[in-house]
Amino acid sequence: MTDTVVFSHPTGDGPDVALERFEVPDGPDREARLAKVPRPDPYYVDLGMLYRFASLEAVRRSAPAGFIPMHVAVRGHMGTGKDHDIEQFAALLGLPYYRIPLTGEVRDITLIGSTKLHGDGMGGTESRWEDGDITRALRGPAIVNLSELNAAGAETLFALHGLLDRYQALDLPTGETVRLRDDVRVFGTMNPTDLRDYAGTQTLNKAFADRWVIWEKGFPSKDELHEMLVRRYPDLAESYAEAISRLAREVNESFGSRDAGTRVETPMSLRTTLDRIPVGLRIHHATEDPLRSAWEEFVLPHIDTYDRDHYETVWNAVVRNGPSEQPFG
Ligand SMILES: Nc1ncnc2c1ncn2[C@@H]1O[C@H](COP(=O)(O)OP(=O)(O)OP(=O)(O)O)[C@@H](O)[C@H]1O
Ligand SMILES: [Mg+2]
Repeated sequence: MTDTVVFSHPTGDGPDVALERFEVPDGPDREARLAKVPRPDPYYVDLGMLYRFASLEAVRRSAPAGFIPMHVAVRGHMGTGKDHDIEQFAALLGLPYYRIPLTGEVRDITLIGSTKLHGDGMGGTESRWEDGDITRALRGPAIVNLSELNAAGAETLFALHGLLDRYQALDLPTGETVRLRDDVRVFGTMNPTDLRDYAGTQTLNKAFADRWVIWEKGFPSKDELHEMLVRRYPDLAESYAEAISRLAREVNESFGSRDAGTRVETPMSLRTTLDRIPVGLRIHHATEDPLRSAWEEFVLPHIDTYDRDHYETVWNAVVRNGPSEQPFG
């Protein structure tokens, strides 16, 4: 029996997409793979990305033989939930999830593999091939998330060119060819380099970029932030949910502003909004202005000194004085 997952259109303006879940076949690494299937996050609010992933997946499944699969790279600012979307897609499809960060440090031997020396049990050594992270992931059903694509060095990316184009395989130095299986999906995430600096990132090599469909992920709207907050903290007072979601929205609007004199240089990530501020509210629940205390201790320290004035401008415009009631019911 195979199960089916149904993906609904975020605004109801499109048909449902129903997809059969993947099966992890028997094999020596079945248990290890099953352990890599993520759990659905009960606090996850789908802002439409899962539906887009599912729509592309449905096209792929109905495509004629010889179809060259497309790989999706999600591009968006820090903490907009890119990796989380891909992980939740893996959870729903029942696919083992391999998140492989491509930082500037990572070498292709870490990703592809290398020959290592082992004791042969008789006092000597023998050399044996050991799969790297990507190779291991490709050997069975998987969603491979190459995160921070644009932080990778050029030689790392060249090693992946063949995998991502018509050739659909990785050639190992051992002579083995590891093909892209029918039950493997490759995703990526990256930060945009056009607007602000993310240390260690660069514009994507054009030939590499051409191997992906690039989908932009924007900042969530005020209503979406509000929904995420109340889903995660059902006892959070409405006045706080409202103030926090407005603050985050306004800061992020200011981040996108063209006016260098007033714009903030650091966006307010989902980690700040959903994790840090609520912790601050719990700690400071008994102070006169819990939101202000949380802001001072859990938001401002993340902001460069020269940028604090801009953050405070948004604070004054949106909140000035936080709610006076207790944050949690
Ligand atoms: N759709 C969502 N619903 C609820 N919570 C979310 C959602 N998306 C992300 N989050 C929360 O926000 C946090 C940040 O998400 P994630 O790590 O995916 O961001 P990212 O875009 O990959 O950031 P970075 O560019 O910094 O790597 C996660 O820990 C998760 O708890
Ligand atoms: Mg990320």
